[in-house]
Amino acid sequence: EAVPVITVDGPSGVGKGLVTRWLAQRLRGWHRLDSGALYRILALAAHRRRVDLDDAAAVARLAPTLDIRFEGEREDDERILVDGQDWTRDLRRESTGALASKIAAAPPVRAALLQRQRDFRRAPGLIADGRDMGTVVFPDAALKIFMDASPEERAQRRLKQLSEKGIQATLAPLCEEIRARDERDRNRPVAPLKPAEQAEVVDTTGLSPEAVLARVEALLRRHG
Ligand code: C5P
Repeated sequence: EAVPVITVDGPSGVGKGLVTRWLAQRLRGWHRLDSGALYRILALAAHRRRVDLDDAAAVARLAPTLDIRFEGEREDDERILVDGQDWTRDLRRESTGALASKIAAAPPVRAALLQRQRDFRRAPGLIADGRDMGTVVFPDAALKIFMDASPEERAQRRLKQLSEKGIQATLAPLCEEIRARDERDRNRPVAPLKPAEQAEVVDTTGLSPEAVLARVEALLRRHG
């Protein structure tokens, strides 16, 4: 019997982190995959090693050489170590998100990360969030959630999130960056951001975190 997977896909700043953390608490012992972090890590590693980001083959070759470790469960104690170094803070920047979305459009890069993502699927279960978790990486997932919200609201949330982490940003440029990144993610030919056919779409525009979680709770009940 295959290890069950719940996928949470959607654009940036839509609340996937909130939902995946809640699911992880609810489903004790289940593993988590933050697939966006893998794209961010690979992009930042390439950038720092002065690999040409337009050279998809060279970027893809970097992927298997990186030692990546996720530590901590809660938002405030989460740490991401790359080759033993704490990259958590640099990975969260919107500039890193933009680099990630640039390399993520290239098929060799996606192929290089595919198995690495599937390796996170271990008993008793996996909660995976990203853009193509339900469509490409785990097409047999038991429950596929697709979250959406207006770009303005997502930019506001991202701003709040960044400032809580002590990272400075300004709304207008952040909104513009997020819009550009989402447009690229939605319109790329390979693994574009879109709901899987069987996805449960949750529009979180105007919803409080509690209201979002109540919807997810209902989905969890309905899907056993
Ligand atoms: O989710 P996060 O903002 O960390 O993702 C950063 C970028 O990585 C996204 O904008 C997207 O281009 C890419 N990504 C992807 N597929 C995923 C997760 C992230 O293409 N499953």
